[in-house]
Amino acid sequence: MDPFRYGQVVSGEYFCPRPELAKALQGYIKAGQNVYVQGERRIGKTSLISETVAGLPAHRPVYIDLLGIKSVDMLVKEIAAAVIRMGDKRDNLFERMGKYLARLGLSFSFDPVTAFPSVAIIPGARPDGPDSLDAALDLIGSIHTAKRPVVVILDEFQAILGLKNHAGIVARMRGKIQFQPKIPYVFAGSIRHKMEALFVSPDSPFFKSAVQLSVGPLDEKIFRKHLAGRFKKGKREISDTVLDEVFRVCDGITGDVQQFCSALWSVTEEKTRITEKALPEALAVIFGRERAGYEATVENISEQQLKCLVGVARHGGRETTGIDFLGKTGIPLAASAQKALERLVQLRILFRQRAEYRFTNPFFREWLLSRGF
Ligand SMILES: Nc1ncnc2c1ncn2[C@@H]1O[C@H](COP(=O)(O)OP(=O)(O)OP(=O)(O)O)[C@@H](O)[C@H]1O
Ligand SMILES: [Mg+2]
Repeated sequence: MDPFRYGQVVSGEYFCPRPELAKALQGYIKAGQNVYVQGERRIGKTSLISETVAGLPAHRPVYIDLLGIKSVDMLVKEIAAAVIRMGDKRDNLFERMGKYLARLGLSFSFDPVTAFPSVAIIPGARPDGPDSLDAALDLIGSIHTAKRPVVVILDEFQAILGLKNHAGIVARMRGKIQFQPKIPYVFAGSIRHKMEALFVSPDSPFFKSAVQLSVGPLDEKIFRKHLAGRFKKGKREISDTVLDEVFRVCDGITGDVQQFCSALWSVTEEKTRITEKALPEALAVIFGRERAGYEATVENISEQQLKCLVGVARHGGRETTGIDFLGKTGIPLAASAQKALERLVQLRILFRQRAEYRFTNPFFREWLLSRGF
């Protein structure tokens, strides 16, 4: 069985320890301190948070994923569902939900087949959005006790900025959370400028309301050891030079490294040592799975944008307005290159890290190069 996991939260043997970050996060949670966890896509934020919380036996996680949340109603339903998932008999959820139902505009029932509790929005009974959000946060507050504390995780929190009237909603949330000083809220997000707009901008209600915890790549030495151990578990041996190439292509992004290793594992035989020969085969497996997306991307962008993209793939994403970059890509004006690159960032094909444009998906970059665009 494939000893690597990617595209999902990892725990247990699949989780490579990050003791410093885990210790810091545990400290904040125990102190009831709000934290905002910042880091690139697929770097390991959600896994770190869930593994850390799992290591705090007293704390009960209310895990709310805001990805795809389009309205306050959906958010409220998500919060109520998270509370129900986490709660147990001692929380008297039925009674408690009864108390909050009207304010939440939700119905609560047990599935007759699975016996799982579930919530649904009552048609026509939608209370005014922000009121029900207040009620949902009150519901969280009501199940928190000193002996059985909760920790609230709001993952992909930047999605809140996509809601209509988000300024009012954010202010209202902040108001409520402020009055729950003992409950630690962990806000996580991967879109840096949006998270900064929420927590670092002096205009935001959340300004200075949470300490920042940055999640970067895993320590390479520790991660390599972990990966070598996983290969061993999968009855293969990996050479250092192959791992060098994996880290170069993926730039150390945790999830991408795991995806590459999984592909390497899948194209090799038991009881063998994996050598460089396997690299193109592994990439071909990844390209095969992702090709439709790559092709759609190339078709949907302009010629200028494609030239820039290929330029970044070939020459790197620094000094993209310099004569060198413009000459190599054949783009006449620095302003045109700038505009094209900004659009590629908006489309999430590239992202900006300090003064550099980088590929969101490193395998897409390798595919572009392999196709000789
Ligand atoms: N500590 C870890 N040890 C081993 N692999 C990890 C670790 N953390 C993350 N990964 C790998 O990275 C992948 C993405 O992890 P996770 O979903 O936690 O990241 P994330 O930063 O929350 O990503 P996103 O921004 O997409 O939500 C996992 O599926 C796994 O392959
Ligand atoms: Mg995540």
